[in-house]
Amino acid sequence: MDKDKIDKIIEKYPSDPSSLIQILLEIQSENHWLPKEAIERVSEKLQVPLNRIQHIATFYKAFSLVPKGRHEIHVCMGTACHVRGAQRILDRVEDLTGIKPGETDQDLKFSLETVNCLGCCALGPVVEIDGKTHGKMAPAKTADVLKNYD
Ligand code: FES
Repeated sequence: MDKDKIDKIIEKYPSDPSSLIQILLEIQSENHWLPKEAIERVSEKLQVPLNRIQHIATFYKAFSLVPKGRHEIHVCMGTACHVRGAQRILDRVEDLTGIKPGETDQDLKFSLETVNCLGCCALGPVVEIDGKTHGKMAPAKTADVLKNYD
């Protein structure tokens, strides 16, 4: 994320510590994670100590201090999805993306996580990508779904 882009976001908000969370959320949403240079810049501009920003970024699940892909894949491994073959879906997603749960690929295209229930068990097995639910997944359907993301 370049400095100009970071500054543009910071300049949209009043230059005081009360803007901190809003600015971090916008950087997170633009960039999918908070790079070190971004939080250093925010710290400098808002006069908020770096360790306070790091603490907030670690505490709230909405933020990531490690690189994240442009698209977040959540494969549901809850009981209802599990009995309908979620493991085979996860295997297929791992094959297609080359990453395991908790990882992000080199091109920062996908991040992969497993979850315990996405609240729509009747549609299982379920995969959620960037918040969109893909129900009744099958290994053969997985490639078709993933190819819509770039
Ligand atoms: S167990 Fe997968 S959505 Fe509930």
